[in-house]
This record gives sequence, C-alpha cells and structure tokens, in this order.
Amino acid sequence: MALEGGTAPSGGIISGRNEADRFVMGLLRAFADAVLVGAGTVRAEGARALWTPEYVFPVAADSFRALRQTLERDGAPRLVIVSARGELDPSYRALQAGALVLTTANAVARLRARLPSGSEVRAVSDADQIDVKEILDLLGAEGYRRILTEGGPRLFGQLVASDRVDELFLTVSPVLAGQTGDRSFGLIHGVDFGRAPKQGRLVSVRRHGSHLFLRYRWEAAA
Ligand SMILES: NC(=O)c1ccc[n+]([C@@H]2O[C@H](COP(=O)([O-])OP(=O)(O)OC[C@H]3O[C@@H](n4cnc5c(N)ncnc54)[C@H](OP(=O)(O)O)[C@@H]3O)[C@@H](O)[C@H]2O)c1
Repeated sequence: MALEGGTAPSGGIISGRNEADRFVMGLLRAFADAVLVGAGTVRAEGARALWTPEYVFPVAADSFRALRQTLERDGAPRLVIVSARGELDPSYRALQAGALVLTTANAVARLRARLPSGSEVRAVSDADQIDVKEILDLLGAEGYRRILTEGGPRLFGQLVASDRVDELFLTVSPVLAGQTGDRSFGLIHGVDFGRAPKQGRLVSVRRHGSHLFLRYRWEAAA
C-alpha cells in the first residue's frame, strides 16, 4: 500500500523501516539492470534518496556489490525516471548521481538545460504522456534486461495495464494507517481494470516477525 505522507517516505511509514523489508528491497535492486520510477515517487522520496541497493540497506553493501559482480552487473543499477512535465529538482542527489530521464518533446529542452550533466534526458513521446511499452522497448533495446519498478501507483498501474509486469514483490506490514480526503493511493492509481482484474499466482511466502513477504507471478507477461 502506498500512503501520501507529507515529507516522509510513504513506504517507510507503512513498513516502519523494517529491516527485512529494506533487505528485500536492496536485494531486488542488486539483481536489477535498471530501476524504473515515476517522477512522483522521486519528488515524494526527497532530495537525499538514491535507488541503489546499499542506500536502502547499507549493512549489506559489500554483499550486494559481490552479488552484482557474480551476476556480471557493473556498478549500480541505472535509475530511470519517467516525467511528462519535467518537474524534477536538479539538486536531488539521484539526479546528481546520474539518472536516465525519459520525458516528452515538450519538456525535453527545459530538462536538458536544468539537469546536471551526469544525467541523460531523452524525449520518448510527442504526446502529453509516454506509452510505457515504448519505455520498456527502449530499455530492452539498450540491454537493460531485468527492470525493477518501484512505482509509484500511477506508473505501476500503466505497467500492469500493458501486461508487461511479470512479478510482484509485496510486503504486508502489520500496520493500519488512516487517511482523510482522497489522497490515499493503493498499489495502482489512475487505471481501472473493471471486471477484468489482472490475476496473478502466488509463488512464495516468507515471514519475518509480523511482516509477510509475498512474491506473485503473471504468466502472460513472463
Ligand atoms: N509504498 C511504496 O512502496 C511506494 C512506492 C512508490 C511510491 N509511493 C508513493 O506514491 C506517491 C506518488 O504516487 P504517484 O502515482 O504520483 O507516483 P509515480 O507514478 O511515481 O509518479 C507519477 C508521475 O510520474 C510521471 N509519469 C508516470 N507515468 C508517466 C507516463 N506514462 N508518461 C510520462 N510521465 C509519467 C508523471 O510525472 P510528471 O508529473 O513530472 O509529469 C506523473 O505525474 C508518493 O506518496 C510516494 O511516496 C509509495
């Protein structure tokens, strides 16, 4: 579940910064060629955030590095940010560290002028919105095979709708969070599958204390 939480990272509010949850996130990042996020998630996570394995679980930094060497993946996974409007703050550490920003023809010039030289900006669409299939095709063509998305709910909804999500790692935390107004997001926001929800298959369950770690698979996308 994603929760709007002012300046605090919403995943952290729900998970309580649970150690096992952060380890799983680090491990998933360590296996990834690229980590794909929407600009809303970047803005919500704030100026200091990075999408590297060691940022989320620093204790295992050496093990993550060794794992990536074994997997023949050099350096950190590539951070890929999707933004239609190009509203990204160039001072953010993730952009300073170097990200690939996929945007629209309308926003590309402004973003290129603002973002640090370490980050690469590309126009992927002439329309107001980028078709997520184009994003995945572009990443595939550039050799990014294993792509991890950490959402948020708007981007994830489009990816699910496109039938290109093959696995979901879902942490269930023993926390009930209240919310007023209409700002409470679920895993998916902005698309509605109506009477044809996307049916997954549970392939593993792990427990750590009161947290559950669930892994689902979608055969159609695999
Ligand atoms: N609990 C968790 O694990 C978790 C994980 C991730 C996020 N979240 C939470 O989710 C909330 C943000 O939700 P969100 O749905 O706004 O996040 P999001 O999907 O990351 O961001 C939405 C933004 O991404 C860009 N975008 C998405 N799809 C696009 C497309 N097809 N083409 C072009 N641009 C596209 C747009 O950016 P522009 O506005 O710049 O055009 C859009 O406004 C935050 O509170 C965050 O903390 C929670």
